[in-house]
Formats: sequence, structure tokens, C-alpha cells
Amino acid sequence: MVMGFLFVVLMLALGGAAQAQGLTERRWQPPGDGPALLAERPKRALESRSPLIDLGELWFRDPGILGGEARRMGLACNACHPEGAANRRFFIEGVSDHPGRFDPTNAIFNPLADDGAFAPVDIPSLRGVAGKSRFGTVAPTTSLRDFVRHVIVVEFMGTEPTPFLLDALLAYVRALPPAEDKTTERIGLAGAIDDLLRWGRAAATLLAQDGGADAASALAALRTALGQVHARFADPSLEAERAWIEQGGVRLGLLGRQAETGKGEDAAAALQAWLVELAARRPALLAVESRTLFDPVRLAETR
Ligand code: HEC
Repeated sequence: MVMGFLFVVLMLALGGAAQAQGLTERRWQPPGDGPALLAERPKRALESRSPLIDLGELWFRDPGILGGEARRMGLACNACHPEGAANRRFFIEGVSDHPGRFDPTNAIFNPLADDGAFAPVDIPSLRGVAGKSRFGTVAPTTSLRDFVRHVIVVEFMGTEPTPFLLDALLAYVRALPPAEDKTTERIGLAGAIDDLLRWGRAAATLLAQDGGADAASALAALRTALGQVHARFADPSLEAERAWIEQGGVRLGLLGRQAETGKGEDAAAALQAWLVELAARRPALLAVESRTLFDPVRLAETR
């Protein structure tokens, strides 16, 4: 049991290292697309912030809440709806006919829900979704909650989400601003670390309250977010930083296990301690940003 668990932890660390050769986001770029999708994102804008919204934002980026092929590919809500906007460049052979389009009933992400027709539709922006009363066009519903549940369970073969996880996703989606904004911002390391700190604090709050499945799931999502930072520390000269990040991934994995076994308060304290270390490490990590794939020039050089 313990050996099996250590093996999983080791594979996660190694999986992170292998990822450095290619950023996950490249899997849904159209052929020949430049580095912009990896360098910029729609400008982030939320109407309000709370620990619940922060957790929703974290799960919105977590392929782990989906199942099957989406989880294997590292695909999450945010791939198609980055910052709640529409990804006009999203393209996967077999489910897209043009960039920005996707067939929600396809054999790749859920063979059981495939309708047999190749019928991609435009990926919509979710901004302003709070003010709508009808969702989707392919299988329209009047309940946002039912729609999101359907996306997770039917479109992407995820396991049944807990009511809390759905609450958090809906809180995030509803906090998106009503108006479309076409401005973009650079995806940088400072922002990525600040996200980890904010999501980490929200996860710690949840851990302290309830050591159960939701807390474990939030920790798994946090580890995935850390893995995405790790993937950009690809340069051979960043060995020490990579090792530090990998160690963090292993620690978050162990905390997730503690959370599952009901030791939420201990895990919350340990998570807070890691967040303090991450905050202390921030300047040293930022000092090497120009050698990471957060640097637009470096990013443009790799393929
Ligand atoms: C692979 C791309 C993709 C992923 C991943 C994805 N969506 Fe979507 N989403 C779409 C498409 C395409 C539609 C339009 C479907 C339709 O017209 O029936 C849509 C529609 C929606 C809508 C309805 C919007 C409206 O105005 O009617 C919501 C809400 C939504 N998605 C939320 C989510 C959430 C939450 C997740 C993650 C759990 C997610 N989506 C993951 C592509 C995606």
C-alpha cells in the first residue's frame, strides 16, 4: 500500500519532468499556430473574490475533475474558456473543423455520448453567463448547474461532482464580468506564483473546515497548477528550481492523502507552511524568469 503510494508520487514527479519537453497547451493549438496561446491570455477580470470563487477558479483549470481522454490530455474548462472568455484558437483534430470550434458529442472525449455526427459549434465566451436563462445549443438547458454537471459527467466522462465542487465552479463562472473585453495580458511567473498562493490559501481554509474529498481534490488541482509552472522550468540550468518545485508537488500529494484520511487540520497547517516557503522563494524564482518558458522570447524559440 505504502509502496504503491510512493510509486504514484514518484511517477507524478517524473511525469512533471517529462512534461517539460512540451507544454500541455500545445495539444489544442491549430497546426502552425505561433506561441501567442502560451504567452498571453484574455485579461483576467472578476466581479468579486471569495475563497469559494478562488476554488472554483482553481477547479476550472483542473483536468482532474474531468475523466477519460480529457484528463489524460490535461484538458480543463480553461482550455476552451480561458479566463471565462472563448478560445478562438482551440483546435483538436477530430473534434474541431476550424479553430475556436468543438463538437460536444464526439467519440474522443466520450464514446458513449457520441451522436455519430461531426458537428462542431463555436466555443462561447462565458462572460455574462450569470445573466442568461438558457445554456448551450446542442443540448440546451435552463439550469446552469445542470449544464455544468452535464459538461463534466457526460461530455468529458468525469465522476459525479460533489455539490460543493459544483457550487465553487458556479460561483466562479457567475463572478465573470458581463461585458466582453478583447484585451490580453502576458502569462508571467509572478502571476502564476500569486495564483498558487491564493488558491493555496483557499484550499487551506477548506482543509481546516473539512478534511474530506473536496479538500483532497483541491490539493490535487493545486498540484496540477504547480506542475504547469514546473513545465516552464525546462532549461537544463534550472535543475535546482525544478527540484524544489518537484519536492513541493510531492508534499502536496502527501497532504492530499492526509486530507482523505481525515487529518485536515494537520494538512492545513502543513499547507500554510509550504505557502510561506513559496512566498519566501518568490524573488529567487522571479530572478530566473528570463530562463523559463514564461519568457516570450524563450517560448518562441521552443516548439
Ligand atoms: C473542449 C472545449 C470545451 C471544454 C473543455 C469546456 N467547454 Fe464549455 N462549451 C464548449 C462549447 C463548444 C460550448 C457550446 C455548446 C453548445 O452550444 O451546446 C460550451 C458551452 C458552455 C456553457 C454554456 C454557455 C452559454 O452561454 O450557453 C457553459 C456554462 C460552459 N460551457 C461551461 C464549461 C465548464 C464549467 C467547463 C469545465 C467543466 C467547460 N465548459 C469545458 C466547449 C468547451
